[in-house]
Formats: sequence, C-alpha cells, structure tokens
Amino acid sequence: MASITIDGIVKQFSGQTVLQNLSLHIPDGAFYTLLGPSGCGKTTLLRCIAGFYEPDGGRLLFDKDDVTRVSTHHRDIGMVFQDYALFPDKSAFDNVAYGLRARKVAKPEIVRRVGEALEKVGLSALADRYPAQMSGGQRQRVALARALVIRPRVLLMDEPLSNLDAKMRLQMRDVILDLVREAGITTVFVTHDQEEALAMSDRIAIMDRGSIAQLGTPEELYGTPVNAYVADFIGSANVIPVAARRVDDGAASTAPHVRYQLAGQALDGVQGGPQLGNDSVLIARPEDLSLMAPAPHVPNALHGQVLRRQYLGFKTAYRIALQDGPEIRVELHAGNTVADFQAGDAVQVLVPADSRVVSA
Ligand SMILES: Nc1ncnc2c1ncn2[C@@H]1O[C@H](COP(=O)(O)OP(=O)(O)O)[C@@H](O)[C@H]1O
Ligand SMILES: [Mg+2]
Repeated sequence: MASITIDGIVKQFSGQTVLQNLSLHIPDGAFYTLLGPSGCGKTTLLRCIAGFYEPDGGRLLFDKDDVTRVSTHHRDIGMVFQDYALFPDKSAFDNVAYGLRARKVAKPEIVRRVGEALEKVGLSALADRYPAQMSGGQRQRVALARALVIRPRVLLMDEPLSNLDAKMRLQMRDVILDLVREAGITTVFVTHDQEEALAMSDRIAIMDRGSIAQLGTPEELYGTPVNAYVADFIGSANVIPVAARRVDDGAASTAPHVRYQLAGQALDGVQGGPQLGNDSVLIARPEDLSLMAPAPHVPNALHGQVLRRQYLGFKTAYRIALQDGPEIRVELHAGNTVADFQAGDAVQVLVPADSRVVSA
C-alpha cells in the first residue's frame, strides 16, 4: 500500500489543457473519490496516476517514490474500468490469474490466491464461466478480483458501477468497500454520481474543468461548499444572488462588516466570506428552509407565493416565487408540524440565520 501525491500535474491534448496544475495528496489506505461532470478530466487524472498518460508537467509519487516516468507495468496498480475490460476468451479463473501468471507466480500459489479472490467476491461457483455467460455485476466482481489479486499498491476505479442497474449498483458499493477496507488499499474512485461519492468516500475531490474546486469529507462538501458550483453539484441547493452592503456599526466594531439583502429584505446573521462583489450568492438547501403564513416583523422572512406543491411521501416540495425576487425551492419533511400550504397561497420563506453567502 502507498500514499499517492499528485504534485502540480499538467496534461494537455493538442494544445487543450485538460489538467491544470492539479495537486492532491491521498493518504495510505484512504478511499478518495474524483467527482465531477463529464469532460472535467477525471479519467485523464486517473490515467496519469496509472501511467497510461505521461503528464506534461508535475510529479507523481507513490509514498516517497517518484513514479512520474515509471511505466504502468512497474507501478503496481490495480485498475477497474466501467466496461469491465475482461478477456472474453478467458474464464473467470483465468482472467483473475492473468496478473499472477505475468508475474511468474508459482502454480499452486496461483490456484490458492485466485480461489481466495473469487471467494471474496462471491464467485467461487462461477470460476469456469466466460464473461459472456455472466451478468454485469458478476463481470465487475471478476474485474475487482483481478485487480486485487496482485496485491497492488493502489487501486484505481473509473466509474466501475455506471453500467450496472440501480439495485446492483447499491450492492456493489458494499462489495467494493468491504474488499478495499479489508485489504487496507489506497483507492481512487471516479464517479459522476454524487450520491455514490457521498456514500463511499473518506474524502471527495470535486473537479471543475481540470482543477479541484473543493476537497473535503462528504459532510464538509455538503455543509460548507466553497462556491455555487460545488453547492449545486453536491445535493441540490438554491443559489440565489444577493446584494451585499457594507455596514459601519460605528466605534463598537473594529471594522465595517457586510450585510446581505434578498428581495428587499435584510438577512440577519447570514455569514459571507471576505468578498463584497456583485457576484455574491446565498446557498440555501431546500431542506434547511421553512414556511409560515405571512406575518409582520419576522426576521429573515421572504415574502412569496406557492407556485407548486409536490407531495413526495417522506417530504413535501414547494416551488415558491419570491416577491420581487427569483424562485426558491423549499422541502418540508413529514412530521414537520408547520402548516401545509397549497399552490396560490401567500407564504413567508424563513432563511436560517446561519446560511452562507459565497462567491458565484
Ligand atoms: N486521448 C485524448 N485525446 C484528446 N483529448 C482527450 C483525450 N482524452 C480526453 N480528452 C479530452 O479531455 C477532456 C477531459 O476528458 P476526460 O478526462 O475523459 O473527462 P471525464 O472522465 O471527467 O469525463 C475532454 O475534453 C476530452 O475530450
Ligand atoms: Mg471519464
């Protein structure tokens, strides 16, 4: 096992910069996920770590070993792909045995280790099957066994669950986590599925056009996104432009601070960063907002009208048109004692005082 240090990696394809001076440290034994929309550079980064692509700048270390110029073959990596990439003319056993044979491991040890690996992924009974005779989930288990049987220093997985149906995807999350935790192997997992990333990762790196927009634990990314891009990508968020105003409290405060306004209403307690530009946006998760009937003098209450109410069982979702403002989404969970509202009702949307304003 090894830590992975990505130090200022640059990768270009015919003049287009796909990875921009990207740095990331993945501790030994950690499960890190690269998350981002299609085309943001996830696969390119993974292929640089694997050695399929040589970066145009920067360094790559496994522990203290500089592997930037080391061939894939000598990097000791296990790799799992979206399309399984099994040898169609080899049985499950022979697919898993492939890497051990290439490493000239003795025959009895091959039989023992392949048997163990197939047992761990629950495929002992299917050792003689060919890929065409197996389901997608079974093929991906063979691919996982093949990647792990060589006891690689790092495991790289590129959207390994994307070709599976919803139920199998959930099952395979646990299969993967059980195996990598047991092996204690450093894992880089690529997905464009935010829920998968939240459910599986120690830390998630959200990528935006070849850079890391934010690195953090699932809780950090969900709770304190650094910008609108991250807030919108992880979970769903209302991202609403607000006016920022510098307020001088006089001698009592050491420095003038910033207050925010939305739809003519001052937002009390809402905290922002140092920015005071015209690109400030309020980040408000639908489930953090609540509704009440219009009443005077309620702090942080935005007047609006219900456009649509959608009952979803465990929650009810509302689309609200704010008076002199944009639309905002509010979700009330079942058991919430707040009165229910219908389309056309006048309401107030309550913005929590600890909401955040970030730069758009
Ligand atoms: N071999 C290649 N040659 C030229 N351009 C490439 C190549 N691989 C990827 N790209 C480009 O690099 C960008 C990032 O691609 P990729 O890493 O596959 O993104 P992701 O995996 O996040 O969807 C895309 O614009 C893609 O077209
Ligand atoms: Mg990709």
